[in-house]
Amino acid sequence: MTTGNVPARAPVGGSAADQAMVVRPAGRLRGTPALPGDKSISHRALLLALLAEGESTIAAAGDGEDVRTTAAIIAALGAGVERTGVGGGRVDYRVVSPGGAALTEPEGVLDCGNSGTTTRLLAGLLAGRDLFAVLDGDASLRRRPMGRVTEPLTRMGAAFAGRGGGALLPLAITGRRVLTAIRYDTPVPSAQVKSAVLLAGLAADGETAVTESVATRDHTERMLRARGIAVEETTGPDGAHTVRLDGPVLPAAIRETVPADPSGAAFWLVAGAAHPDAELRLEGVSTNPTRRAIIDILRRMGASIEEHDRPAPGGADGEPLADLVVRSSDLRGVDLSPADVAAAIDEIPVLALAAATAAGTTRFRGAGELRHKESDRIAGIAAGLTALGARVRVEGDDIEIQGGAPLRGAVTETHDDHRLAMTFAIAGLIAGGETVIDRPGSAAISYPGFFHQLEGVRA
Ligand code: S3P
Repeated sequence: MTTGNVPARAPVGGSAADQAMVVRPAGRLRGTPALPGDKSISHRALLLALLAEGESTIAAAGDGEDVRTTAAIIAALGAGVERTGVGGGRVDYRVVSPGGAALTEPEGVLDCGNSGTTTRLLAGLLAGRDLFAVLDGDASLRRRPMGRVTEPLTRMGAAFAGRGGGALLPLAITGRRVLTAIRYDTPVPSAQVKSAVLLAGLAADGETAVTESVATRDHTERMLRARGIAVEETTGPDGAHTVRLDGPVLPAAIRETVPADPSGAAFWLVAGAAHPDAELRLEGVSTNPTRRAIIDILRRMGASIEEHDRPAPGGADGEPLADLVVRSSDLRGVDLSPADVAAAIDEIPVLALAAATAAGTTRFRGAGELRHKESDRIAGIAAGLTALGARVRVEGDDIEIQGGAPLRGAVTETHDDHRLAMTFAIAGLIAGGETVIDRPGSAAISYPGFFHQLEGVRA
């Protein structure tokens, strides 16, 4: 274990020095890959620690580049941030903050790197603080839509200036100490948009309400409750989900333990199910109902996944946890609705790989949001899997994969997108011959040590 202060943000993966990686097929897969701490929860734990006056501790956070980005930013906003332990792709933080009413106006631009979650949640947090800040990021982040948060936050009283009428980074924010509470219907189901409005709602006078057509991941809601804030949730007869909170209010400082990331576990679940001789164990994974779609969809495809609940819910937020065991399975194609796709939004690239190895056809319907992730994931999945010999058809926002064609090694392009890099690496364990991952370094965005684990599971 090493300790120290939060380092300057590490360079985003996929730098000029990023070497191509060759992955050869594995004869057998066995083992218990060490998973990173959940990225969504790690970001939120740091941002809420900034708002909470006093000392917060965050154990077993993800130590990928995105979470380091958020740690460096809360330090620039006035928090003392110390890395008190590091190991196995996890990090423990101690954060001491003056609290949301006494943040420091940052001297320079806040570099959000590759992280959409950092940018959008921070926009919500800063909207209700009495300071000026500029957010910027890498080439990928500068292409991603920010109007989806600046539009409601402007209605709440914050002022934004940015390219494309405030829709693209770099983005200048002038916050206000007291915002106007709004009722907001999100145009796309997005936990980032919901969370941005709720974080701004902490500074709004009265009740802020966010309604989405399908419920997205609920970490912000759980984590605010664990920090003493009343958050109400209701579901309408049409499935629309509304979250409400009353401001102004600030979260309390607490001790937090972060569960293992189901989106990191997803790569091993697919590797284990699709490989002909595999048994992999994944420990302490969050099985939060808003995150577990990857498990349930793979089971619908015929995957053998044992789930052993851990008796006490993990961490202060009461996330349900389980140890998972996945074994070689005969996968079959499934039809996935837009709600299925939204529920497994970060796992669609690796689910597309599962579909390519399955018997029959898999349809991903209404997957348009994938075009707005770290890269255009519809194009990236289609190109990479097609190069590997899969039969992929894209029609509008739908992806159709006819499974069963044997995969053969090829050169795959990651577009510096961590989830594409890891998906094609898992494909390399299954495909015949050599699979080349062009620019694999982005894996460190969410899963430092992934390629080490990839060698470790070869039995
Ligand atoms: C995240 C929400 C999702 C997801 C992202 C993390 C979060 O984005 O894709 O990786 O932590 O809130 P959207 O909510 O924009 O779909």
